[in-house]
Amino acid sequence: MDAKKRILELREEIRYHDRKYYVENNPVISDYEYDKLMEELKKLEKEHPEYVTPDSPAQRVSGQPVEGFSSVKHKVPMLSLDNTYSSKELLDFDKRVKKFLGGEKPDYAVELKIDGVGMALIYENGVLVRGATRGDGTTGDDITSNIRTIKSIPLKLDVTNETKPLANCEVRGEVYMTRKGFEALNKERAKKGESLFANPRNAAAGSLRQLDAKVVSKRNLDVFLYTLSYTKEEGFKTHMECLEAMKKAGLKVNPNVNKFSNIEDVIKYCDSWENKKEGLDYETDGMVIKVDSLEQQKRLGSTIKNPRWAVAYKFPPKQVTTKITDIVIQVGRTGALTPVAVLEPVELSGSTISRATLHNEDEIKRKDIRVGDTVFIEKAGEVIPEVIKPVKEKRTGKEKIFVMPKKCPVCGSDVVRPEDEAVSRCIGLSCPAQLKNSLHHFASRHAMNMDGLGPAIIDQLVDKKIVRDISGLYTLKIDVLANLERMGEKSAKNLLDEIEESKKNEFSRLLFGLGIRHVGRHIAKLLSENFSSIDELMDAKKEEIEKIEGIGGVVAESICTFFRDEKNRGIIEKLRKNGVKMESKAEKKGLLSGKRFVFTGTLEKYSRSEAEGIVESLGGSFTSSVSKNVDFVVAGKEPGSKYEKAKKLGIKIISEDEFEKMVEGKS
Ligand code: IVH
Repeated sequence: MDAKKRILELREEIRYHDRKYYVENNPVISDYEYDKLMEELKKLEKEHPEYVTPDSPAQRVSGQPVEGFSSVKHKVPMLSLDNTYSSKELLDFDKRVKKFLGGEKPDYAVELKIDGVGMALIYENGVLVRGATRGDGTTGDDITSNIRTIKSIPLKLDVTNETKPLANCEVRGEVYMTRKGFEALNKERAKKGESLFANPRNAAAGSLRQLDAKVVSKRNLDVFLYTLSYTKEEGFKTHMECLEAMKKAGLKVNPNVNKFSNIEDVIKYCDSWENKKEGLDYETDGMVIKVDSLEQQKRLGSTIKNPRWAVAYKFPPKQVTTKITDIVIQVGRTGALTPVAVLEPVELSGSTISRATLHNEDEIKRKDIRVGDTVFIEKAGEVIPEVIKPVKEKRTGKEKIFVMPKKCPVCGSDVVRPEDEAVSRCIGLSCPAQLKNSLHHFASRHAMNMDGLGPAIIDQLVDKKIVRDISGLYTLKIDVLANLERMGEKSAKNLLDEIEESKKNEFSRLLFGLGIRHVGRHIAKLLSENFSSIDELMDAKKEEIEKIEGIGGVVAESICTFFRDEKNRGIIEKLRKNGVKMESKAEKKGLLSGKRFVFTGTLEKYSRSEAEGIVESLGGSFTSSVSKNVDFVVAGKEPGSKYEKAKKLGIKIISEDEFEKMVEGKS
């Protein structure tokens, strides 16, 4: 086939797929097939430069970086919209329009206000010849080479009978960046140590200002066209008709456009988007209400700045700037230290904001946020506001760099930040910020097992300062307990019995109950088998702990750090004084020596791997199939065929509770 013919064919085909993929979001071939077509076209155009035309989809990114943009005078001035912020202002707009139209009732087209960068596209004979920014409204920058890189902008329109007036036209719209594209771009910039964009709109604006179209082509920009601002040939009567024709010609029009015949319905529609807008993949900062009839639009005309036939209805902003006066530390229930920015109070989405989270130390470093900085803050949905980035241009040199404290601001214990973790934590066993959590864990079923110590009781014990650390449980008096809300004489007595009983618990339960980071039940068990008392463990070096099979460096480090803390040691002493068992006799390794186990059904207290780990740590072994060599089959809920087989072979079948007793040395 002759090259020219094939080139034309390929262009048509690629153009069709570009429209399907980028404009209609409905691809009909795979990326691979598409790439093949494009490759072929690029190759042919390289071999036959004489056939290259600017509307070829292979020519989106071409030419050298420019030194600067030349100016373009707009055919029709690019005005901006008057803003409204309430339904009352919309009612006023409606009244003004009706009055101007001598009492006629207009239809309104209502659409999303896309938060991007306004621009105009000029098509001649169906081919894109120019793209321009708004500039001052009269003259803008010629950004044609940048605009051409945006794949959802057709380089050539589908001009048919229905879309004929679009052959020579100017359309206007908004270039924007999707939230996803924005996040990916900022992530990449952070990695390279480049400054971050504050929001998708700034990112889109910054991208369009690039002098090198190759850079722009990598920025994932997209577009929505919303106005047919000029046609050489007339043909449409309403704005809705224009949008319909634009869509048919292959221009990307936002689908959320609706026509209403009264302002009340307009207001309802606008309100409905205030929450819905968060679900979109791009940002909108409001709605635009336009008189639908072009004839009425013409009669209404415009003031110097704004058209009288349209108005914007702005949603309350999500981002504002304010100053950080201090950075304070909040200690969470789990001991995590979160830096929080104290702000000069500002209004944001209807509430006054005076604090915003900074997440962690790395985040502050990455964003280079300092005390004294003016910063952008943002509220996304219902979450706590977040500091987005500093306005470095406003720095005076007096800003202070933040340093994470070495001691917990609440209890004074050490703060540690393990390698590879972003979060710094207080390791204080007595830290009031964590006390409720610590008590809850200490009393839990697999730790010290105090069933009667529920959240409501813990809250009162802590809030009334009756218990100041876990050892305080062992000095509780019956009259104090019985006087708490939701407690009676009887339940107080029961709880005290449970507390008393807990003193005799196996050592491993205490170790687990202390809530040392990374020390779960299994590790606690291993520790209790390898160290005969808490003193031995407290004096152990990291290397000694690490030697135990199943315990790694991170866990060993965490244990050592915990016991290094003087306050933690103090609490251990108090526990000891109160008679809590801190040594392991019955928990010797080898409790299950030589015994072979099979698990079947669902266990409720352990995960399968936990149970297997315990068996192994006590010298036993496990296997997955039942045979004569098996000593015990542990049957959980809904046991399978293994259960039947065990029965047949006469192997001892035990319940999960029996298993628990066995591994705790109680049977
Ligand atoms: S119509 C006469 N429709 O908002 C102005 N504008 O100040 C006609 N915008 O400059 C503009 N979404 O950049 C229109 N659906 C939409 C819009 C929209 C965003 C931008 C546009 C304009 C600014 C208003």
